[in-house]
Amino acid sequence: MTAKTEADAFVRAASLEDLQASRRLAVRVGGHSLALFLEGEKVHAVDNRCPHMGFPLDRGTVNDGLLTCHWHHARFDLESGGTFDQFADDALVFPTQIRNGDVWVDLTPRGDWKEYRRGRLEDGLERNISLVMAKSVIALLDGGEDPSVPFRDGLLFGVRYRRGGWGQGLTMHTCMMRLLGHLSPEDRPRALYHGLSAVARDSDGAPPRFILSPLPDTTVDAPTLKRWFQRFVEVRDAEGAERCIVSAVRSGVDHRTLADMLFSAATDHRYIDIGHPLDFTNKALEALDVAGWGHAEPVLSSLASGYANADRMEESNSWRNPTDLVDILEGAFEELPHALDEGRGRRGEWTGRKALIPVLLGEDPQAIADALLGALRRGATEAELAGDVAYAAALRIAHFHTSNEFGDWDTALHTFTFANAVQGGLRRVSSTELLRGVFDAAMSIYLDRFLNVPPARLPRPDGENRRPEELLEELKALLDRQQRVNEAGDTVARYLYGGGDLGPLLSTLGGLLLREDRNFHTIQAVEAAFQQYSMSIGTPEGVHVLVAAARYLAAHAPTVRSQGQTYGIARRLSRGEMIHEEG
Ligand code: FES
Repeated sequence: MTAKTEADAFVRAASLEDLQASRRLAVRVGGHSLALFLEGEKVHAVDNRCPHMGFPLDRGTVNDGLLTCHWHHARFDLESGGTFDQFADDALVFPTQIRNGDVWVDLTPRGDWKEYRRGRLEDGLERNISLVMAKSVIALLDGGEDPSVPFRDGLLFGVRYRRGGWGQGLTMHTCMMRLLGHLSPEDRPRALYHGLSAVARDSDGAPPRFILSPLPDTTVDAPTLKRWFQRFVEVRDAEGAERCIVSAVRSGVDHRTLADMLFSAATDHRYIDIGHPLDFTNKALEALDVAGWGHAEPVLSSLASGYANADRMEESNSWRNPTDLVDILEGAFEELPHALDEGRGRRGEWTGRKALIPVLLGEDPQAIADALLGALRRGATEAELAGDVAYAAALRIAHFHTSNEFGDWDTALHTFTFANAVQGGLRRVSSTELLRGVFDAAMSIYLDRFLNVPPARLPRPDGENRRPEELLEELKALLDRQQRVNEAGDTVARYLYGGGDLGPLLSTLGGLLLREDRNFHTIQAVEAAFQQYSMSIGTPEGVHVLVAAARYLAAHAPTVRSQGQTYGIARRLSRGEMIHEEG
């Protein structure tokens, strides 16, 4: 066997005479479609598919060393293939030689394609170019890259390039990452594309965030930092609060201590900013679980301004009048340590959800607070109680009547995602301060009671024997039409009560979410419902939670689906399809 020399890599592409006759040629060599250009005495070989959207580059114009594509006018340096238009990628160029009157081309792949694609993903994030992000994430995942890599790239971009800190974009990004495992392989890059695009959109035109340094050589202990942090949030000092966060991270305290610190400030006041800061906190912690806790400083510090600047429900009329819910809650909070002490010896025995739910959905806020304390005394754990409240919040959506004002879907949604986040936090860290969030969520469910007047009926098993695949197709068709809310809920219930497999249902619901244009609240609704369902698989409660998700999704579909069109173009290009040849 002989060693391969550089010359061996060249293959014959065309006769020089033919190229001289037309100055350009389209040829196929070794499975590649090439455009050959003769400029002066120099022969250039370029991949003939424009890296933007695949238009044949041999139909472009060459002038002064620049090749211009005739579709969207992207320009390329003929020598290197580098583009001057960031919406396009660099063109692939190949070394050429003239041998015995023929043009020879070396098609050997060059460079590190993964690095290039990650760089382009960064370009897409910086310039908010969805097609570039879609192409990059498809190429990365198709090439075997772990999804956590582009997820982490988007996360670190988002926490840095938005002065306002953690927002809706990063929340959608994290929701999408958490949905990934439920999606079909084909939909996984689509989910990341939506998340990354949401981050880019949030940062587009926003000033960057300059992250504070920790206290120098600090020996301040975690309880003191936590106390200072709460005090700074109390007086709305976002920078003081941020320095406490980064100092706590740098001092090496464990993840639970950090979570406890953040959740304490998120629940020092009632239902701040209709639950968003607490939900964002939970999502930031979940994002670090994926991206790695080595990134805790930039990620967690991005939350500080959300706590400091939030509206506090103590100052809102509905939490004060006609019944002072804050008074009721503060009374309950005084009882919390005793209730927990009393219940400690009975943990593991809690079976009271069935009796608790009607109270939570009822009309008496004092009875609600008392029932929650009673549950703790009877041995309910913090996370179990949070789960009961999250289920009650999901029922508000499952019972949401379509005669309500459309915007009130969001009212029910906020309570549900808040309750889900409180439970997520309590599963991570057992915190009496965060337990206050369970009571806040319960009061918000109480305030949302008008949304269930009259209540939409919950679907029940109807004995109808339909094929599961047929029901999934029906669900897809329903969401092609507006306001098929009850029908969508019925179809999901029929599927589950009929014994349909869970996996195809979740991947279908996820796919239906992804085919729509992004809606922050719908993404939150579906992700929280999947999370809640994972804790009640095979139960009627689980059915109700997914019915709630399907109803919410159906209420917000169909959208224009333009974002899906961009993704579809990127997907077709990745398969080598000719976009420009479609009639
Ligand atoms: S610029 Fe070439 S296809 Fe768009």
